[in-house]
Amino acid sequence: MADGSSFYITTPIFYVNDVPHIGHAYTEVAADVLARWHRQRGDDTWMLTGTDEHGQKILRTATANGVTPQEWADKLVSESWFPLLGTIDVANDDFIRTTDARHEEGVRTFIQKLYDEGHIYTGEYEGYYCVGCEEYKQPSDLVAGTGEYEGQQVCAIHSKPVELLNEKNYFFRMSAFADKLLALYEERPDFVQPESARNEVVSFVKQGLSDLSISRSTFDWGVKVPWDESHVVYVWFDALLNYITAVGYGADDEQLARRWPAHHIVGKDILRFHAVIWPAMLMAAGLDVPKGVFGHGWLLVGGEKMSKSKLTGIAPEEITSTFGSDAFRYYFMRAIAFGQDGSFSWEDLAARYQAELANGFGNLGSRVIAMITRYFDGAVPAAGSLTEADERVLDTARQVTDAAQAAIDRFAPHDALASVWELVDVLNGYITEQEPWALAKDPEQRERLGTVLHTAYRGLGTLAVLLTPVLPVATAKLWSALGGSGEITAQRIDRAADWEGAASVGALEPLFPRIESAA
Ligand code: ME8
Ligand code: MG
Repeated sequence: MADGSSFYITTPIFYVNDVPHIGHAYTEVAADVLARWHRQRGDDTWMLTGTDEHGQKILRTATANGVTPQEWADKLVSESWFPLLGTIDVANDDFIRTTDARHEEGVRTFIQKLYDEGHIYTGEYEGYYCVGCEEYKQPSDLVAGTGEYEGQQVCAIHSKPVELLNEKNYFFRMSAFADKLLALYEERPDFVQPESARNEVVSFVKQGLSDLSISRSTFDWGVKVPWDESHVVYVWFDALLNYITAVGYGADDEQLARRWPAHHIVGKDILRFHAVIWPAMLMAAGLDVPKGVFGHGWLLVGGEKMSKSKLTGIAPEEITSTFGSDAFRYYFMRAIAFGQDGSFSWEDLAARYQAELANGFGNLGSRVIAMITRYFDGAVPAAGSLTEADERVLDTARQVTDAAQAAIDRFAPHDALASVWELVDVLNGYITEQEPWALAKDPEQRERLGTVLHTAYRGLGTLAVLLTPVLPVATAKLWSALGGSGEITAQRIDRAADWEGAASVGALEPLFPRIESAA
């Protein structure tokens, strides 16, 4: 991607029936890391997240709590979903709620257009509905229940019984788009990522697509269908539109043209909505399909998807209050290959915190800054002639900058971090081998000491810039101790290895303090 090109990235908009857990935070962090990275390479970046507030699931939760759905949503958004972004340091550009007027107006404009152009008709449907998924299920989507649901068929995702619904609704002629969708997956093999997700979507569509029921008349918590106010728009049809209503659909064509299409980051549970229904809706409306849909894996608890409905959710603050937001971000981006499932473990988190963040990266920063302070009074020494060992450090800095960039381009933040860590390891090895503390004892080695510390200092600068998207708090502290000018977030990440350094260093508090209860 060239300088200044548009990079619009989204997370799912989350249901406000309950509070966030680390699964939602995981998606937020991944999208935020990618957005921060692109922003720092000069792309015209926009990151959107938000909340999904209509539909039966929210209505039932609100009713059970004795409040209106709007009151319930307002409370959850202000007390939980909005604060989540601060807890994990997400730098989103916008936050959309499906109860925003801008969104509801856009939904009405869109559905009216499809109706006027003949993509919508009246029909009748009977099927099994999972309120947890807000989706009609095929018999093949169901599994045998266990425990209290023994003997019943339950939703494979929520492990709860489905409900038999029979409704007269409006339908979207989605079946008409099956061939166009298959052609899309064929022409753009990276439209759905990773490969396993693409295969699942292709074989699903190859079985043939049915039309989609897109309205409900048995309850009224939703956007009213403009030509028939006895119906509300089906919650998924409403929710998917957030990706365009947030960037001006129906209201600001210039903004829409600047941002759209987006890259969607979603969990694999909602892959079909994004890779099948959503592009079909866009095709019907004559709009561009997304740039891509990435379906990441699940955080598992005891081999099952961590979930609100199964009460297995861990609150993000449980982790950040001890380890900090940087460690949260680092752990999930590093320990789980993006696209695969992963299990969260306190032991693994504590071990990585100590070995990789505190001893590997944090200590390196403290040692180099401390030695420049001690041996050169804080003035960054100039480099003399370079040895092979010095050149190797500088080469590694260039190589990992390119490798990390390439990894981000293939939506592999775990690989980007692994590449950057090669530089952490090379720098630590360099200092061990060069023994600046020994050079400091010999006045004749003064120039060599300067070269070694200069080289290590420049490597640290490269690390600080490359790690900003993942570790925004620690790298800002390091940047200021390195004497870097301006905000570190304004440093070009694609030129992280070119940084020449400053005149002097300042004080650096420990970036990753020892955690007493850990390990
Ligand atoms: O589906 N591991 O909202 P939702 C990883 N409102 N990610 C997880 C996770 C886990 N165990 N649990 C949840 C909805 N997630 C709709 C979306 S979009 C137009 C509408 C994350 O609150 C993951 O991103 O059920 C997953 O796709 C999403 O939360 C589902 O959130
Ligand atoms: Mg869900």
